[in-house]
Amino acid sequence: MPDASTLPALSPNPVRGRLNSAFFALTTGYTDHRLAGHKRKVFPRGGVVAEIGAGNGPNLRYLPPGTTVHAIEPNPYFHRRLERTAADHGIDLAIHAVPGEAIDLEDASVDAVVGTWVLCTVHDPAQVLREIHRILRPGGRFAFIEHVAAPHGAVRGVQRLVRRPWRWAFEGCHTDRDTAAAVHAAGFASVEITEFRFRSSFIPVRTQIAGIAVR
Ligand SMILES: C[S@@+](CC[C@H](N)C(=O)[O-])C[C@H]1O[C@@H](n2cnc3c(N)ncnc32)[C@H](O)[C@@H]1O
Repeated sequence: MPDASTLPALSPNPVRGRLNSAFFALTTGYTDHRLAGHKRKVFPRGGVVAEIGAGNGPNLRYLPPGTTVHAIEPNPYFHRRLERTAADHGIDLAIHAVPGEAIDLEDASVDAVVGTWVLCTVHDPAQVLREIHRILRPGGRFAFIEHVAAPHGAVRGVQRLVRRPWRWAFEGCHTDRDTAAAVHAAGFASVEITEFRFRSSFIPVRTQIAGIAVR
């Protein structure tokens, strides 16, 4: 297990940390509705699950009641809402207030890992992917939905334009990561990715991918 003390400090700004938690609580109904079909396609049907950057818990409703979920969520301002959502959906929740770069779970200890809109935000996506690979059992699946850099065109222009304020407001979120390439490079036995458009007023996150990587 990597040593978390060697990583950059992950103490969220108290104002932005709270604002982000409240913002996602307000917008999740809308965004989750738009992503529901993709979530149903890729998410696991149970077992022991780890979720990276679980936020307020919008993904828990897609798992069967009784599922054990290890939520890797370094921002403490999400924890209370996350616990409430887990209770509402009968999820057996354990919160780990550690970054995805240094997960405090044993090797090959989970059946599946879930992550939505998180590899955009983590400090070191390649290290988080190494950790996901490490904690998955052989044959275990990493299910992900991520907004990614548009290859070109107007959306790419908007992503470039808002990059800095967006990163500041959403605590490190990058509008321009090539996450598909990062997952392909992470040593999984197989990777399946579907590209899709997230049609909403949130133009910087219009270009998305959903996929499954099998260890
Ligand atoms: C854009 S939010 C997405 C939350 C949730 N997954 C969703 O789909 O609504 C990004 C989440 O990643 C978390 N996060 C930020 N840096 C992280 C890191 N290094 N490791 C794990 N999670 C991180 C944030 O605290 C936040 O909960």
